[in-house]
Amino acid sequence: MSEAPAGICRGVSRVYQAADSYVQALDHVDAEFRTGVMTALVGPSGSGKSSLLRILSGLDRPSYGEVEVGGVMISELRKGARRRARKKLIGYVFQRPSENLISYLNLRDHMTLAAQMRGGVGTREIIHMLDLLGIAHLRGHRPDELSGGEQQRLAFAQAALGAPPLLVADEPTAELDHGSAAALLEVVERIAERGTAVVFATHDPVVAERAGVTIRLESGRRVG
Ligand SMILES: Nc1ncnc2c1ncn2[C@@H]1O[C@H](COP(=O)(O)OP(=O)(O)OP(=O)(O)O)[C@@H](O)[C@H]1O
Ligand SMILES: [Mg+2]
Repeated sequence: MSEAPAGICRGVSRVYQAADSYVQALDHVDAEFRTGVMTALVGPSGSGKSSLLRILSGLDRPSYGEVEVGGVMISELRKGARRRARKKLIGYVFQRPSENLISYLNLRDHMTLAAQMRGGVGTREIIHMLDLLGIAHLRGHRPDELSGGEQQRLAFAQAALGAPPLLVADEPTAELDHGSAAALLEVVERIAERGTAVVFATHDPVVAERAGVTIRLESGRRVG
């Protein structure tokens, strides 16, 4: 018997209102994200990848349609309730390492802060996560003392604390070379295997190939 997907988009549309026009960034997108699976979201620039990830992660709401994460209909929640649900249910990793990290905190402090934000995460879980991502030896380092790949590992380590049902990353490897990108995704796969659905956007076919499932967008529509 297969369990319910950790994340579900049903008929998700997003219309942005620009100064004197409307942009339909997403057009009735249906998608499911299953625990233990890494999904790559691909498509040309402007096809709606970031828009979908923002909606899936509760940072934005759909104009039409619904989003369910960990059994909670997050698209129906108001801002405050959505923020609380997001903290518990969703990890988010931005493209630029610097957006995920705080320059004056070392790696250990980042993890302590992330554990406090998520709640219910103890020291053992932090140590386990740092071992899983291979960055335990860098505990005392600040972001500017880490490579880009190590910074993104830390970003994923924070986002995955407490095993949220869903982890969303928008082009997490865009600023990494192929070797570091491949190494990062190898450890991200371990995060998925621990019991999280992982979805990331990418322009890189080599990176997309590492995912178990690929979803393709074109002009806001799902085409694959
Ligand atoms: N806040 C906004 N206001 C108006 N239009 C927007 C806004 N955000 C995105 N768009 C438009 O929505 C469409 C989808 O943008 P989105 O950023 O989701 O694409 P993307 O697939 O992530 O592109 P890229 O690969 O370049 O990151 C584009 O036409 C974009 O210009
Ligand atoms: Mg984008």
